[in-house]
Amino acid sequence: MSKIEIHNIDELIKEQYPLEFIQKLLNDVLVLSMQVKNDYPDYRNWYQTIQVPGIYDGTRNIIIAHIADRIVGFVSLKKTPEEKKICTFYVEKNFRRNQIGTLLATKAVEYLEEDKPLITIPMDKLHEFTRIGEKYHWKITDIKENLYRTTTPEVIVNGKTPELSTGKPLEKSLTKVNRIYKIQKLKSTLKHFINYPQKLLK
Ligand SMILES: CC(C)(COP(=O)(O)OP(=O)(O)OC[C@H]1O[C@@H](n2cnc3c(N)ncnc32)[C@H](O)[C@@H]1OP(=O)(O)O)[C@@H](O)C(=O)NCCC(=O)NCCS
Repeated sequence: MSKIEIHNIDELIKEQYPLEFIQKLLNDVLVLSMQVKNDYPDYRNWYQTIQVPGIYDGTRNIIIAHIADRIVGFVSLKKTPEEKKICTFYVEKNFRRNQIGTLLATKAVEYLEEDKPLITIPMDKLHEFTRIGEKYHWKITDIKENLYRTTTPEVIVNGKTPELSTGKPLEKSLTKVNRIYKIQKLKSTLKHFINYPQKLLK
């Protein structure tokens, strides 16, 4: 594979790269985001009114991985005294398993000055983050249904107030979390059956 390069968009702005160049990068990231966020309501609006202005006021950043002028992955980040968060983390499908995600995670942790940032991951993508999560001892703290999308629950990783903390790192707790989640879901479904023994639902 050709050479992968990593750049922080906030640094490119500070280094006074031309406005059109920055705008093209931001637009390329938006286009790439739509591959993973197209079913998130209002994502485009959030990106244009919150994420991009945040880069200019120093509370947000986007780190890109690119091969020549093609962006192949990115992390978008929020860094305030109250919250250090990975808002989106994405590597293009054809370029995965080339350590690009690992590189982006390293840079994200460096920028955020936090190796356990908050991140929410769709349950059906959790396995793709297992090794990265293992490296930083990330922990699953909650699972929320219908948080952003209705098709798959969102797994909250490194949340502040653990509601479903298994006390185990991401990789070890993955099976357990899936099991707990399925049991909880089954219980709430069963609640609708009047004759189901209530003591079994506790
Ligand atoms: C998670 C993701 C960023 C990983 O990117 P990547 O470039 O493939 O990551 P890497 O090549 O650095 O792989 C990191 C490790 O994870 C492992 N890995 C990667 N994909 C995996 C998969 N599908 N299943 C199991 N392990 C996987 C790699 O083997 C590697 O292990 P190692 O450290 O032992 O070598 C990428 O799969 C992705 O973008 N997924 C979709 C993300 C998403 O849904 N984002 C929205 C919510 S934020």
